[in-house]
Amino acid sequence: MTPSNVKATLSFSDGSPAMELPIYRGSVGPDVIDIRKLYAQTGRFTYDPGFLSTAACNSTITYIDGDKGELLYRGYPIEELATQCDFLDVCHLLLYGELPNAKQQKAFDSLVTHHTMVHEQMQFFLRGFRRDAHPMAVLTGLVGALSAFYHDSTDINNPKHREIAAIRLIAKMPTLVAMAYKYGMGQPFIYPRNELSYAANFMRMMFATPCEEYVPNDVLVRAIDRIFILHADHEQNASTSTVRLCGSSGTNPFAAIAAGVACLWGPAHGGANEAALSMLMEIQRSGGVEKIGEFIKQVKDKNAGVKLMGFGHRVYKNYDPRAKLMRETCHEVLDALGLHDDPLFKLAMSLEKIALEDDYFVSRKLYPNVDFYSGIVQRAIGVPVSLFTAVFALARTVGWIAQLNEMIGDPEYKIGRPRQLYVGATRRDIKPIAQRP
Ligand code: SDX
Repeated sequence: MTPSNVKATLSFSDGSPAMELPIYRGSVGPDVIDIRKLYAQTGRFTYDPGFLSTAACNSTITYIDGDKGELLYRGYPIEELATQCDFLDVCHLLLYGELPNAKQQKAFDSLVTHHTMVHEQMQFFLRGFRRDAHPMAVLTGLVGALSAFYHDSTDINNPKHREIAAIRLIAKMPTLVAMAYKYGMGQPFIYPRNELSYAANFMRMMFATPCEEYVPNDVLVRAIDRIFILHADHEQNASTSTVRLCGSSGTNPFAAIAAGVACLWGPAHGGANEAALSMLMEIQRSGGVEKIGEFIKQVKDKNAGVKLMGFGHRVYKNYDPRAKLMRETCHEVLDALGLHDDPLFKLAMSLEKIALEDDYFVSRKLYPNVDFYSGIVQRAIGVPVSLFTAVFALARTVGWIAQLNEMIGDPEYKIGRPRQLYVGATRRDIKPIAQRP
């Protein structure tokens, strides 16, 4: 953080003493006004529910320019990473700050590959769930349960523990997501295979059965690998902020990541991909493209409580670059599968076109986000709708753990403890029950 030569002065109309607040600038993006001494010097808090104007930390990992629709992981544009790297390269970048050279890539890929199995007893943990349990309920439980098996990597303040926990989480998430899927299907779990790439291993654990050899489709493997890259990290979004706040108490990394999984599940966040596809299927069921106008009218009617899922973003006030890449991936996958006329994809593109010409969306700068097309790609690959958010959690795990480790690795970090504006009852005494109204 570089001190700016500009200062902020806070003055009060009631004659309270004015206060000078330092301003810091980052390498790019908005400057920050340092209010850490505000309460001590003025007895007042700032007020920012939803954190629309609040920087909760400084970070070197991911940068988003919402106006330009730009996303950088450690300075590299998402467009270059999604087309020139694979997911494990991006994991190395997010964790260590640099893309791996050939030697590092071989070592890192091998390290992750050799941690893809989970403790054999995890299977019994799954059996406690109903077969029709939502995969995110299962995944939240499974990730938290990892802390019961890996006591040798739960001391978050030990850098070696932090690193091995990161590798274990990145390596085991595909295995756990595939186990949740197989459990729901009533099919046997498929063990990881060390000769396969990370994405191919996931596809095989998801779709192979003991009855025949499974040969991964290269186009689908590339597509799922790109989906992982596009979802890997995204600054201080709700689930990443949850992981940071949870981890700030010193809890173990598995518990902190489980908190992130739980937060991601919400339809306003990672659950939007499932909601977006359900929305498209509902429009398709009720008449398809002809019904888009009626649906848009509902969205614009505040009383209807209907949102265009997969649209809008707190930070992007331009097209989410990930949505563009996801739409391209849609084309590639549907072409490869001979699904050129996939009605849902055509419906999605019509809906996008109509929305982007409608002033309601244009005036509010509502554009497609990463979730608008990801469901169509995943559905074409064979991933069931209920598993979309679990795939998002699989991919975001590297971002969560990189952000958590960055926070814990900062000697200045403190436990997060926001304050409030209290508007409830002031002090009062209990009346005997006979005197209560
Ligand atoms: C993700 O933070 C991240 O980085 C998240 C994420 C990541 O990678 O981690 O990018 C992943 O969560 C993407 C977002 C997925 N969610 C959805 O697609 C759900 C639908 N989108 C909305 O719920 C909403 O756009 C949010 C939650 C994403 C953003 O909400 P904000 O920033 O709080 O904006 P807002 O609700 O204040 O909306 C501003 C206006 C409101 O209208 P007015 O009060 O001005 O009249 O836009 C409207 C909203 O009603 N609006 C929408 C809308 N999104 C916002 N209207 C219809 N459909 C929508 N989708």
